[in-house]
Amino acid sequence: SSTPVLTIDGPSGSGKGTISRLVSQALGWHYLDSGALYRAVGVAAGWADLDLADPAALVRCAFDTRIGFRDDERGELRVLVNDLDATDELRTETAGAAASAIAAIPEVRAALKDRQRAFRQPPGLVADGRDMGTVIFPDAAYKVFLTASAEERAERRYKQLKDKGVSVTLDGLLREILARDARDAQRAVAPLRPAPDAVHIDTTGLGIAQVVERVLALLPPR
Ligand code: C5P
Repeated sequence: SSTPVLTIDGPSGSGKGTISRLVSQALGWHYLDSGALYRAVGVAAGWADLDLADPAALVRCAFDTRIGFRDDERGELRVLVNDLDATDELRTETAGAAASAIAAIPEVRAALKDRQRAFRQPPGLVADGRDMGTVIFPDAAYKVFLTASAEERAERRYKQLKDKGVSVTLDGLLREILARDARDAQRAVAPLRPAPDAVHIDTTGLGIAQVVERVLALLPPR
């Protein structure tokens, strides 16, 4: 496909979601939140009471779960799982942990591959995830790897969740983030690792607008 792709990969809390969405809006390109697909399958598996140790059932779930995206009136992305709005449930650490567990199963990743590639539509796509630049869109013209210190990522998550009234501790979040990072980086299939041709941006201490600007600067002037 000649439709241009910008991949933005990185660990949880690196700001990928916020940055990718803003960049896609600035460019007028489509947006793929690939983590939401893994989270949706994890949540659907929970609803169906599937055993997280039963790969065959999870693969079936990955194929069968209907996952839809739509913008609400406030411009926020809502995620529909089997036609139910599951946006808030998808954001919980429980959903993140379930996603990370099922994402380690190669057949689940394979089941979601075509769904992800289908987001590549003119005039362009911003794809946010862990393996966008390495596995799903290796031919992407623009690749970014976003990082931030674990402490800063835990603090960002803490603020987000506190604003939502969720009760968490900074220390607990830091531990969960480190555990999820380790699992995502160490798994045998599609481990979190920068594509060789990705541009690294460390967002520690940077504001959202500054990061957006740096990412947009990688593309030809329009
Ligand atoms: O990005 P997000 O935190 O929503 O992703 C949730 C989990 O889904 C990650 O911890 C990771 O295990 C998995 N994931 C993945 N590949 C992607 C996106 C997410 O394995 N492209």
